[in-house]
Amino acid sequence: MQHDKILILDFGSQVTQLIARRVREAAVYCEIHPNDVSEDFIRAFNPRGIILSGSHASTYEDHQLRAPQVVFELGVPVLGICYGMQTMAVQLGGTVEWSDHREFGYAEVRAHGHTRLFDGIEDFSTAEGHGMLKVWMSHGDKVTTLPPGFKLMASTPSCPIAGMADEVRRCYAVQFHPEVTHTLQGQAMLTRFVREICACQGDWIMGDYIAEAVARIREQVGDEEVILGLSGGVDSSVAAALIHRAIGDQLTCVFVDHGLLRLNEGRMVMEMFAGRLHAKVVHVEAAEQFMGHLKGVTDPEQKRKIIGREFVEVFKAEAAKLKAADAGAKGAKWLAQGTIYPDVVESGGTKTKKATIKSHHNVGGLPEQLGLKLLEPLRELFKDEVRALGVALGLPHDMVYRHPFPGPGLGVRILGEVKPEFAALLQRADHIFIEELRKTVDEATGKTWYDLTSQAFTVFLPVKSVGVMGDGRTYDYVVALRAVQTSDFMTADWAELPYSLLKRVSSRIINEVRGINRVTYDVSSKPPATIEWE
Ligand code: XMP
Repeated sequence: MQHDKILILDFGSQVTQLIARRVREAAVYCEIHPNDVSEDFIRAFNPRGIILSGSHASTYEDHQLRAPQVVFELGVPVLGICYGMQTMAVQLGGTVEWSDHREFGYAEVRAHGHTRLFDGIEDFSTAEGHGMLKVWMSHGDKVTTLPPGFKLMASTPSCPIAGMADEVRRCYAVQFHPEVTHTLQGQAMLTRFVREICACQGDWIMGDYIAEAVARIREQVGDEEVILGLSGGVDSSVAAALIHRAIGDQLTCVFVDHGLLRLNEGRMVMEMFAGRLHAKVVHVEAAEQFMGHLKGVTDPEQKRKIIGREFVEVFKAEAAKLKAADAGAKGAKWLAQGTIYPDVVESGGTKTKKATIKSHHNVGGLPEQLGLKLLEPLRELFKDEVRALGVALGLPHDMVYRHPFPGPGLGVRILGEVKPEFAALLQRADHIFIEELRKTVDEATGKTWYDLTSQAFTVFLPVKSVGVMGDGRTYDYVVALRAVQTSDFMTADWAELPYSLLKRVSSRIINEVRGINRVTYDVSSKPPATIEWE
């Protein structure tokens, strides 16, 4: 199926990915590419419209960072955002000047004239009847002379040209950032641009996408066999469900239980994939092997390396067994991975066109080592799209909206040496914490605290403290609860969980998990702390 496509040229802004997400939310397919792609690439891409992103650079200082001139010659609509507006101005004959008044944050912009981009879109109007927009600004330089043919579309007192348009050429530009949610009408503006001005059909819908993705996988794979490392996480689960929908028994999932998973994880994954989906799943019980190699090791990085290395060993051995068992037949030719679009796009990297493959500990380098071709059916999807696809494929909501879980699992949540008995205590304590988060609804939002946090888990501290239980003294281990809120996992705040919830969790863990007599709550933000403890 041919979708109408929007091309986003990235000049290095931190928020370019948000432009793509907003465009996809308007049900239009788009891709992000570096600003210096060739003219041939752009023509072959055949976009219905082009968006130029922001940047940290200055058009004033960096004379190289420009859009290929063909962008303005193709005859398709172009939208410049922030730096994208400035480079549009410079390239089409306007001027940009350095400004000593840098503008960051909230601003109110007045709309001028009537442009298709803003028509009927406003947050409020002034007493004089001017349409006003509440927006997010982040810029130093500004456009000081409009290019020939352009008219003023928006202004603020400190930025007289905050938006400009040449409606004959269908070139629009705004100095503020419509892609961030702080710009209240941002989604409406981007939807207006892609759906009406560029006239894209709204055909990027996950429910419909299944048929297309299934057809593509079938065509790619033919009658060959595929193996996939199933971790129980969102990406590998959705990839497995999608590939299974496409090729059924030609897919074999390998689920490696290293003994450092969440409580009942193995059972849940088997029930879902082998039980409900009837997929072929090899369940590898490798806890002893992993624990054996981790014995006596306390250094976090060494632990990670060991877990990653052993994972590859187990996976390779299973792949080889599958080949041997299949001696008469062809053996697996493909390794499937749940790589998603943010893994592919280097955030902010405009100069490197090389796609980064997820350096996830359990699959990094595996395709080459195994001599397998790589199948990545989620490569063009954002996380929210992967989730929508998972739901459309019939995966349970709870599985699709799970918090992320690190590849090394509880190995990095048991501080110091990893021992099986520590893992057993931690699994049970963590299960209680998660259960209570899922049960407790915040009255203000109507959401559960599990959904209100981005990641929550329990950490095992290999220290003992004194307690009293009944009439007796206890001398047992300590756990720390960790719950954070974040949008990108690069920075995070500790979640202000209700005291009543913490109290219930603490009481249940101490009463139900023998061996733990003290529960603490981690109140460190990232930075300077990290989300995980190791
Ligand atoms: P930190 O601890 O660096 O974690 O603040 C940020 C996010 O990354 C996850 N994480 C990992 N995920 N393999 C993974 O697949 C790993 O080795 C790993 N280490 C950290 C962490 O859970 C959090 O979501």
